[in-house]
Amino acid sequence: PAPPLDPVELIDWFAATARPLPWRAPGTTGWGVLVSETMLQQTPVNRVQPIWEEWMRRWPRPSDLAAEPQGEVVRAWGKLGYPRRALRLHEAAATIAAEHGDVVPSDVDTLLALPGIGAYTARAVAAFAYGKRAPVVDTNVRRVVARAVHGAGDAGPPSTKRDLNDVDALLPADDASAAKLSAALMELGQMVCTVRSPLCEACPIAHDCAWQHAGRPAYAGPPKKV
Ligand code: ADE
Repeated sequence: PAPPLDPVELIDWFAATARPLPWRAPGTTGWGVLVSETMLQQTPVNRVQPIWEEWMRRWPRPSDLAAEPQGEVVRAWGKLGYPRRALRLHEAAATIAAEHGDVVPSDVDTLLALPGIGAYTARAVAAFAYGKRAPVVDTNVRRVVARAVHGAGDAGPPSTKRDLNDVDALLPADDASAAKLSAALMELGQMVCTVRSPLCEACPIAHDCAWQHAGRPAYAGPPKKV
């Protein structure tokens, strides 16, 4: 069997190789991370980058966005697609401005209580903006866990609870390391442990990877229904 994953190897790899994306710059506010994570949910990084920068210039605080009419917010969302996300962000911004002193909350439950903020976004903001221990699970992370932990070629159908538990089990106890590992798992899934052509020779945890140890079997598909 593969040895357990070493979080330090992944965290060090991330520190050495992570892309310098603008929302990762030190000093990015909770608002900046909320906007980036909302944009990144259905749109690739390279298309998000210029629009995120424009939004941060125009609307550096939630109250700035909340003061705009809906039509202007949707227009500025532009080509990102799925414009309902812009309206949800506008609504969240109004609540943050009115009820949270114009500062995005740092606690997952408080974030979840905001309009339009789902489980993924709440945990991503808590981890990436505030350095909290919160399992952040997207499709890339699910694939990394399926391979490295379970030795499968790909993730099965989402199973929110099990996916959360799997990622939670990998996170170190302390907030700062756990938050860094969450970012590292996501980056690994996007840049190295890709769906079709994983770059195992460049992977910092290949020697601990259950899929590697199993000879990289093809994905067998979801469990058959009987
Ligand atoms: N996809 C979702 N969140 C991301 C992030 N913070 N950085 C890069 N890609 C992402």
